[in-house]
Amino acid sequence: MSNDYLEFIASIKKKTGIDLSLYKEAQMKRRLTSLYEKKGYQDFNDFFKGIMADEKLYYEFLDRMTINVSEFYRNAKRWEVLQEKILPQLLSQNKRLKIWSAACSTGEEPYTIAMVLSNIKSLSDISILATDIDENAIARAKVGTYPDRSLQEVPDLIKKKYFTKEGIFNKIDDSVKKTVTFKKQNLLADSFEQNFDLIVCRNVLIYFTEEAKNTLYQKFSSALRPGGILFVGSTEQIFNPNSYGLETEDTFFYRKL
Ligand SMILES: C[S@@+](CC[C@H](N)C(=O)[O-])C[C@H]1O[C@@H](n2cnc3c(N)ncnc32)[C@H](O)[C@@H]1O
Repeated sequence: MSNDYLEFIASIKKKTGIDLSLYKEAQMKRRLTSLYEKKGYQDFNDFFKGIMADEKLYYEFLDRMTINVSEFYRNAKRWEVLQEKILPQLLSQNKRLKIWSAACSTGEEPYTIAMVLSNIKSLSDISILATDIDENAIARAKVGTYPDRSLQEVPDLIKKKYFTKEGIFNKIDDSVKKTVTFKKQNLLADSFEQNFDLIVCRNVLIYFTEEAKNTLYQKFSSALRPGGILFVGSTEQIFNPNSYGLETEDTFFYRKL
């Protein structure tokens, strides 16, 4: 790693608690270099000084490092498995499920969980914790309006039931919004609540180093109750689930032993 980047990592960690060394280096460096060049900075040293002097730049840095892309019903087939197989199993063990959408971005994922579960249970019986490191993403999630392209995979009936058109945006219904509690949380630094029935953590671990991933799988496993399920993204298969006290329940679903 270049000294310049190493120093930048150390300074950012001191200022924000975010440890960039736990993210894949080449990818992160490329993203940040293209931002500082665009802003007219010479190197990481200069860029850090800029970030310290300009709050707006700090938020642009955060925005660039966090990659917020998301959509409702992302990889729709997996949500069918959740609805048809996983949720009925979990509900046969526990009437009220403790659910966490970890790295929830702008809300599409926790709201999808609520809408899928609403096919089985009343929305008033559903509560979901949703967390992300990025406050801006959380603020947008709380507003709950989305462009058409975020809704491409949403089944028509669900679209009719839970979205209203507002100009070029689609507003999610308050009854769905009310089921989700958003909190800021850094998965790589903060402690986790315990005893979850279901943890959904998708499309964030791909950005982390192998070491950080291992630590997180272990922490997710500890945060699940025995029999609870971890649902990961469609490029994030766990190859040795047993070493984390998990077993494969279905593709991209792991059960706590
Ligand atoms: C690509 S989005 C995934 C959103 C959603 N889970 C999905 O699959 O559509 C990745 C999210 O991870 C969040 N993130 C990145 N590093 C994080 C960290 N250390 N702790 C918590 N969230 C983090 C980003 O802010 C971003 O919102």
